Amino acid sequence: MAVDLLLGLQWGDEGKGKIVDVLTSNYDIIARFQGGPNAGHTLVFNGMKHVLHTIPSGIFHDEAINLVGNGVVIDPVIFKKELDKLEDQGVDYKSKLKISRKAHLILPTHRLLDAASEAAKGKAKIGSTLKGIGPTYMDKTGRNGIRVGDLEMDDWKKRYRNLANKHEAMIGFHNVDIQYNLKELENEFFNAIDVLKTIPFIDSEDYIFNALKAEKSILAEGAQGSLLDIDFGTYPYVTSSNTTAAGACIGLGVAPGKIGDVFGIFKAYTTRVGSGPFPSELFDKDGETMGRVGHEFGATTGRPRRCGWLDLVALKYACQINGVTQLMMMKADVLSGFKMIKVCTAYNYRGETITHLPFNIESHNVKPIYSEFKGWAEDLTGMTSADQLPDELMAYIAFLESELKIPIKIVSVGPDRAQTIFR
Ligand code: GDP
Ligand code: IMO
Ligand code: MG
Repeated sequence: MAVDLLLGLQWGDEGKGKIVDVLTSNYDIIARFQGGPNAGHTLVFNGMKHVLHTIPSGIFHDEAINLVGNGVVIDPVIFKKELDKLEDQGVDYKSKLKISRKAHLILPTHRLLDAASEAAKGKAKIGSTLKGIGPTYMDKTGRNGIRVGDLEMDDWKKRYRNLANKHEAMIGFHNVDIQYNLKELENEFFNAIDVLKTIPFIDSEDYIFNALKAEKSILAEGAQGSLLDIDFGTYPYVTSSNTTAAGACIGLGVAPGKIGDVFGIFKAYTTRVGSGPFPSELFDKDGETMGRVGHEFGATTGRPRRCGWLDLVALKYACQINGVTQLMMMKADVLSGFKMIKVCTAYNYRGETITHLPFNIESHNVKPIYSEFKGWAEDLTGMTSADQLPDELMAYIAFLESELKIPIKIVSVGPDRAQTIFR
């Protein structure tokens, strides 16, 4: 068996949580491979909305095992809150959830460092979710991090203290006013560690290897999106992990040859939350309509998402980097009522027309060049099969498929699990 991947192709929030939930019944194991509680994955079913941050989006199904892989960074405090919510909803997570011993822990001082670093950057801030992601991955690559497996060792508290002391000195170095009560934060952290320890810690790369040998099916769930990838995204306005397909090999310990399908998810338009370039961003009524109809507010921070037309140049790049085999188009329903739909098909890059993603896409270098499509008026949210979709939407889909040379297999027409059309 192979590991299928599901990844966001834009700047995150494409609807990964929804589709993982929809696909979970086809899989034995759902595994998150990178990111941490900067992610907010929304699932809607039976009239209820659930937002997951660290826990994989297969957790509401009875059968599937949900694995938090080695590439993920875990904040025990947020993890505990997620578990508490699941418990309130009567979800039996204990038998279904496993955590890699090699996953790194986000410490309270990582969060403080994130805040200090952003404050010190002023206008140039990344627009981080302030969950401590950057500082935790920095400690990982700097070889200072504390891992889940360390919690089973005797000396971890000593190592914790040394690292937290160092972080406090680093916070001071930023020379910004960050108020905090570390004692309180640490009480909450150590309580949450006790809860984390009730979930089985495993050698997850071995677990996956054996699962594949036993013909188990695995879906790897990405977080963020390809344009937030630390290497291939709009650096420095990115997150601190590899969000692209190769990140799944590293974040789970899966050999490249064991990757099967790569499901690429994109919105029928584009959104971005936080700072950084966004060539097809709209500052007019159309952008405002997308935000309002699409309820475009961050699932983790509540910040309004910036909205714009679909950027085909960037989408092609993401398909290329990830080796996408099947596409899923989300939120097509949000575009109902637009007389004209635009797609950015090329850039004017310093006076030259280009169709590839250049090194720098900031607005002084890049202006979008659009193709226009006729819109549709029909409300899609009640549609259940592809033959009900309006001709104009089908033309839009056909154009994207011909440009990307990858089939669009799912068209999502609303947030609910049931509002999913398979083609
Ligand atoms: P993720 O981070 O990729 O899992 O996406 P988010 O959950 O952050 O953001 C996607 C948002 O769009 C959530 O509020 C979903 O409930 C919602 N959503 C997902 N698919 C659709 C869709 O097809 N139509 C509409 N209107 N909303 C959707
Ligand atoms: P999901 O998985 C959208 C953005 C932040 C910021 C940048 C760096 O829900 O799609 P970080 O906290 O990682 O240091 O922030 O990345 N960002 C996301 N944007 N969806 C996400 O996750 C995101 N995770 C991080 O807004 O611009
Ligand atoms: Mg999200």
